[in-house]
Amino acid sequence: MNATPKRVEHQLTDKGYVPVYTTAVVEQPYDGYSETDHGVWATLFARQRELLVGRASGEFLRALEAMRMSADRIPRFEDLNVHLRRATGWELVGVEGLLPELTFFDHLAHRRFPVTWWIRKPEQLDYLSEPDLFHDLFGHVPLLMNPVFADYMQAYGRGGVKAHGIGQDALVNLTRLYWYTVEFGLIREAEGLRIYGSGIVSSKGESIHCLESDAPNRIGFDLERIMRTRYRIDTYQKTYFVIDSFEQLFEATRPDFAPIYARLAQLPSIPAGEVLDSDRVFHRGTGEGWLADGDV
Ligand code: PHE
Ligand code: FE
Repeated sequence: MNATPKRVEHQLTDKGYVPVYTTAVVEQPYDGYSETDHGVWATLFARQRELLVGRASGEFLRALEAMRMSADRIPRFEDLNVHLRRATGWELVGVEGLLPELTFFDHLAHRRFPVTWWIRKPEQLDYLSEPDLFHDLFGHVPLLMNPVFADYMQAYGRGGVKAHGIGQDALVNLTRLYWYTVEFGLIREAEGLRIYGSGIVSSKGESIHCLESDAPNRIGFDLERIMRTRYRIDTYQKTYFVIDSFEQLFEATRPDFAPIYARLAQLPSIPAGEVLDSDRVFHRGTGEGWLADGDV
């Protein structure tokens, strides 16, 4: 089914106007998927599963196997939910696409992960400007099988509801945290740096770039530093932040953020590619190929 999702409004965000889809939870229209749709899933799934051996976090790879996502056909959300509910109590709900912030946070706070039901077209295997089923399902869902990461995502949702009540600056700080952990995070494992961010694991090019290119910075996780750091939405990241463990991530984000937001409101943001004296640098990027402007 080459669906045109129902756009119901546009919302002004730090990325400019983005389309927002109907907020309703929808049943996955499984019988509507075409053979082309299933083929896109099979191609991307096989490609990333192979590429990520030795690149993705061991936790991600173990969780991916434990979920038993079908390799050849688009998985059914209800089948995955059996494994997910048993493991961590999370469940997937189908949606048309991006949700308004508060709706998104509310789902996470209740251990519901919204998954876009439609999949990209064959000519979009390598790049898509908005999340589709492959990004949402392959990228985000495996780690919801991990108890600590599962708790982090729920805490993030609750924190989002709270930040929404505080104001736009708080939301910007919190969104940067999501970007540099959930979407583009790296983790230090015994054998070396590994990927856990969903935006990376669902992208062939960035899976290689983030670990093997000399261009980007790779810097140790630091909560307030991340909350101040702008990011890229149109190119690979200039900087990746590295956690030591999911426990570190969970513990570092446990404190009340309200005083942190208040303090950070007085400080300037940090450009996406900048390295500070206080950074714990794993790799200082050469900056090769970076565009001078365009950080959001
Ligand atoms: N501790 C944060 C707060 O008080 C909530 C949060 C937890 C945010 C985990 C992000 C991740 O706002
Ligand atoms: Fe995502």
